Amino acid sequence: MRRLRAVLMSMWLAGTCQAQEAARLAVPEVLEASGFAQFIVPRFALKSGLRISRVSQGEPAEMRFVATDPALFEGLGQGWTLMHQSDPRAMRFADWLRSDVGRKTIESFVAPDGSTFKAVLRSAGSQTAPTYDGDRADGEQKSLRLCGRCHVINDSNRMNGMGATPSFAVLRSMADWDDRLATFHLRNPHPSFTQIADVTDPFDPRLPPPIVPLEMTQTDLDAILAYVSGLSPADLGAPLHVQ
Ligand code: HEC
Repeated sequence: MRRLRAVLMSMWLAGTCQAQEAARLAVPEVLEASGFAQFIVPRFALKSGLRISRVSQGEPAEMRFVATDPALFEGLGQGWTLMHQSDPRAMRFADWLRSDVGRKTIESFVAPDGSTFKAVLRSAGSQTAPTYDGDRADGEQKSLRLCGRCHVINDSNRMNGMGATPSFAVLRSMADWDDRLATFHLRNPHPSFTQIADVTDPFDPRLPPPIVPLEMTQTDLDAILAYVSGLSPADLGAPLHVQ
């Protein structure tokens, strides 16, 4: 009985501490350097009473500013949105960024170099994330089969990943994850062992692949993109392991 009480007490304590902890917002370097994040976060905190701490892009966070379309606001030559997994604090922040006050705050920011930001009105139709045509279930199988000998794809091959290789969840949490995936065959170390039918040049006969080659089609890659698009960005709350 006493044990039960101790357990309940520690659960209660954990709950309370969590509520008081600042929610972490991961801010890409360019956005941080512009001064925008330092400007916007305290103004929201002031209105909401919620504490938000800014962390860098590779760190675990409850929410992230990511460069993407459709955008919540635009600045520094690209669109930005707030990515999160329905964390209540992140939802309030997103709502505020979309509200009149939030939009005015966004637009009142002036960077040291004079550049400004624009709040983007999101019409009902443009709220959906970009879609990928590939077959997601197939993409999961293809990811495991083609990429899973080096990358952690999901729980089912968590033990197989190579240490310094980013997991797919980590890749997914990068602002330009789709670009990186769509061009992975051009990015090291893949060119030396990857063949996408009708896309890559054949291997140089004088430089045979050093390992079992990775042979696939563009359809396979589309399926992988569709699968990764549906992943939660590194399960935002969970620790990321970025080397
Ligand atoms: C033989 C091992 C191996 C296989 C197989 C492999 N990768 Fe990789 N991949 C790596 C390593 C190692 C890195 C990290 C490279 C670095 O950080 O310099 C990487 C990095 C990446 C990156 C990030 C590249 C960047 O420049 O940001 C993407 C995207 C990627 N892999 C996609 C894939 C996909 C998709 C597949 C399967 C179709 C795949 N990889 C198969 C080893 C592999």
